[in-house]
Amino acid sequence: MNMHKYEKIWIYFGSATLLFFLIVVGVSAFYMGSKPPSCAVTLDPERVREHALFEEPGLKQIGDNEYQLTIVASAFNYDVGTDDKVVQIPKGATVHISSTTTDVIHGFEIAGTNVNMMLEPGYISTYTNTFKNAGTYTLVCNEYCGVGHHLMSATIEVVE
Ligand code: CUA
Repeated sequence: MNMHKYEKIWIYFGSATLLFFLIVVGVSAFYMGSKPPSCAVTLDPERVREHALFEEPGLKQIGDNEYQLTIVASAFNYDVGTDDKVVQIPKGATVHISSTTTDVIHGFEIAGTNVNMMLEPGYISTYTNTFKNAGTYTLVCNEYCGVGHHLMSATIEVVE
């Protein structure tokens, strides 16, 4: 079989990039332990407030520089445990975030960070993040959820 020179180059190039990306995925998954955020934890979406995690949403210190932040989303609000919808997090703190929704699917993105989850009724979404830089971050809903979608936000203040 006679193959054109360019055809050969593309086959080698394609195979090499495929191999390269498989190695990247393999190393990050098996050596560095990365995995997608878990959504395997379930709860009754109609009884969110009776769940131990979500009885009192907000920030709680659970260790040395370690916090648990629970937030209940509903159309069109994030209950972060404060009246002004502002959460203050000390700079450098590791925060274990748990959130869920009481009604429809909402987004959960803290703009400017890697925190970006989908909240689905019946599931608890979790993400652990270390807030290294002080500043004001906005928690926004990035899944269209109804007429008040654009009003759905809260504020995360990372303070010194
Ligand atoms: Cu909630 Cu869009």
